[in-house]
Amino acid sequence: MKLFLDTADVAEIREYAKSGLVDGVTTNPSLAAKTGRDYVEVLKEICAVVPGAVSAEVLATDFDGMMKQAKVFTKIARNIAIKVPLTWDGLKACKALSDDGTMVNVTLCFSAVQAMMAAKAGAHFISPFIGRLDDIGEDGMTLIRDIRTIYDNYGFKTEILAASIRSVSHVLYAALAGADVGTIPGDIFKKLLSHPLTDKGLETFLADAKKAGVTIKTE
Ligand code: E4P
Repeated sequence: MKLFLDTADVAEIREYAKSGLVDGVTTNPSLAAKTGRDYVEVLKEICAVVPGAVSAEVLATDFDGMMKQAKVFTKIARNIAIKVPLTWDGLKACKALSDDGTMVNVTLCFSAVQAMMAAKAGAHFISPFIGRLDDIGEDGMTLIRDIRTIYDNYGFKTEILAASIRSVSHVLYAALAGADVGTIPGDIFKKLLSHPLTDKGLETFLADAKKAGVTIKTE
């Protein structure tokens, strides 16, 4: 499973990217707003740090406007993926951009039929929003499983990008359900390595070595 960071915070992205475990980044207008900075400038900095796909979301809702904004984004770097909403104009833009060789991430997906339509429009990524479905009492993970089944049934190559992730369990179950990518907020990304028995075990190993004077000479 590829792991993307779901943030527009450049400092946070730089920090996690040092691990070599960040395969890409997703941003959206709300995340861009949080930075208080120019969206295009922020995207330029992110693309310089992360070589994998960096999603940049259009603000226009009509086809022509989306295409104009996509042109601005695609000039930033080769790893930009244009993020368009799952609307008729969004899918029209998705088709035009994909036919032209541009990566497109279709966002705000809440049904498997929507995901099938996005795949037919040539989307590189489909973003089902797990957390927002859970928030209204539905099961986000069922959506991931249904999309996996449909894509496998018909050989669609569109990557399932599990979005709106709220917990480590979301990452686990999305991976088990066959999501290709998970986009994860920084605080949850950090928790992916956490386990109390890892901390406790390490503490014991180091205490035992210290007590017995075990060392490793490096020079
Ligand atoms: C990423 O592509 C999505 O925009 C993001 O995961 C949405 O997350 P939220 O539901 O927590 O806002």
